Amino acid sequence: MTATTNSTTSSTDYIRSLDTNDPNDVDAILEVTNTDRDAAISVVKNNADTIFTWDYEKGARPRLAKLYEKSKHSMWDGEIDLDWSTNVELDQLAADMAMLGEVQFRPIHRAAEEPGSPLKNWGDKEFHEFSMQSLVWQLSQFLHGEQGALVATAKIVETVPWIDAKYYASTQVMDEARHVEVFAKYLDTKIEDSYQVNPHLQHLLDDVINDSRWDMTYLGMQIMIEGLALAAFGFLHSMTTEPLLKKLLRYVMSDEARHVAFGVLSLQEVYQHMSLAEIQERQEFAFEAALRMRDRFLQQEVWHRMGVENVKPIIQAQLNASDEEKEFQRLLFSKIVPNCRKLGLLDAGDGWLRTKFEEIGVIQFEHLESTDEEYADFALAEGDA
Ligand SMILES: [Fe+2]
Ligand SMILES: [Fe+2]
Repeated sequence: MTATTNSTTSSTDYIRSLDTNDPNDVDAILEVTNTDRDAAISVVKNNADTIFTWDYEKGARPRLAKLYEKSKHSMWDGEIDLDWSTNVELDQLAADMAMLGEVQFRPIHRAAEEPGSPLKNWGDKEFHEFSMQSLVWQLSQFLHGEQGALVATAKIVETVPWIDAKYYASTQVMDEARHVEVFAKYLDTKIEDSYQVNPHLQHLLDDVINDSRWDMTYLGMQIMIEGLALAAFGFLHSMTTEPLLKKLLRYVMSDEARHVAFGVLSLQEVYQHMSLAEIQERQEFAFEAALRMRDRFLQQEVWHRMGVENVKPIIQAQLNASDEEKEFQRLLFSKIVPNCRKLGLLDAGDGWLRTKFEEIGVIQFEHLESTDEEYADFALAEGDA
């Protein structure tokens, strides 16, 4: 039976107001839950106008036009180019994940040693299972984020007023279909397990679709969600020894770099003509997205599945992690921050976003190359994996 959830969540419903200035309120983080975890579909209201343009002049925006031409020649086929006969060893994947999380999971191990800890009876077996579940959860959230990109970019085809951007976005829609397809197939046939969408991610995706302003779709998806995904895929690609996943991630990354570049090139033009008040709204939207993405990495669902009811001390320990332990979380912002800088979002309005990025410890990435300058480096070469 197909169940429908009418999701009416919007940024105004989000319980943790930016004004409270406490992004580490654990109760507020944990209160964000899915309304119906078992629904087969959910419905989000799209409030944006659909725009026709009668100006068909191709190449009026040369850098977007170039991106479109590149995209047409960069299509791969997940059924043909990936070797689905590869035997995937789950234990090997879990070992990869344990290594990936060695520093990142230290606060959890510390929390386990506290008196009365909900993890007090955990041994190697439970922590090994936790590593496996973390990977399944992570790949599942990638899958759901990819569907978000599919839907959001279809929205951009409808709402952006420039023909070069409509052309490019249409190729991205096809890219995202492939990404959804390969992550879904990997989870279904190799892992044989998956997780529901994380509520923090779902709320962010809902906001991206819900907003009436077409540039917000780009900011939420191409700059924030895809910027984070590009960094996360790169990290997992460099760490995993599983050949099918490694190649899958490499192929997806070759597309994602173009997608993020599409966001930077489009928004650069739009933001030049915006008032300070409008730019300040974009700064707040970007930071709220950043917090939601951080909160999703607290992976409440994994604790739930592992039978841990009282997750508060564990989440608290993760939020209180040392700078070194937070390094992975910070690396996830290595694409977002330079791209926000390129768009002028860091320093507008007395540098509000710069201050916020300083507070969450990610400002050090600001001078890395922005993705519109480096996307060609991600292109696939012969035999690339
Ligand atoms: Fe994607
Ligand atoms: Fe993408």
